Amino acid sequence: MRVGRLTVSDRASAGLYEDRSGPEIERIVRQSLQLTCEFLTAVVPDDVDRIRTRIQTWADQDGCDLILTTGGTGITPRDVTPEATRPLLEKELPGFGEAMRLHSLPRVPTAILSRATAGIRGRCLIINLPGKPSAIAECLDILRMAILEALAHLR
Ligand code: MTE
Repeated sequence: MRVGRLTVSDRASAGLYEDRSGPEIERIVRQSLQLTCEFLTAVVPDDVDRIRTRIQTWADQDGCDLILTTGGTGITPRDVTPEATRPLLEKELPGFGEAMRLHSLPRVPTAILSRATAGIRGRCLIINLPGKPSAIAECLDILRMAILEALAHLR
């Protein structure tokens, strides 16, 4: 199993602050999803081309089974991760974003501000997650069973 974790952040990619969300993805995937996997990692700025190229390369050339992005799903002008992701999806899975928003909302009223989406490209499952480190565990916990089921279908 090969997993790409992509942190999308202008400031983290410029080295202005430490990327804590990427390592958190890795921790949760190993611990909570209990997946034994090799991780490919990258940090890119909030730029459609940079995000799209990285996802496409990981899915098409590097054989990733799962790609998890973090950040850039909100409503500021720089937030473009869903726009970068969507054209790459051969099948969109809108339920992943809907579930994250619905189940996060009672505890996190701002959860509705995330436009995160997900879908399939070839045999790769691609999922946007919000940028906050605390959101990673919350969202992956909500999606856990769906991710495992989707990966089993794609094998
Ligand atoms: N979802 C969960 N579960 N936990 C969170 O802390 N943060 C919200 C939302 N979704 C959050 C969440 C906030 S504050 C924002 S602005 C949006 O995700 C978008 O975040 P992003 O632009 O970093 O992706």
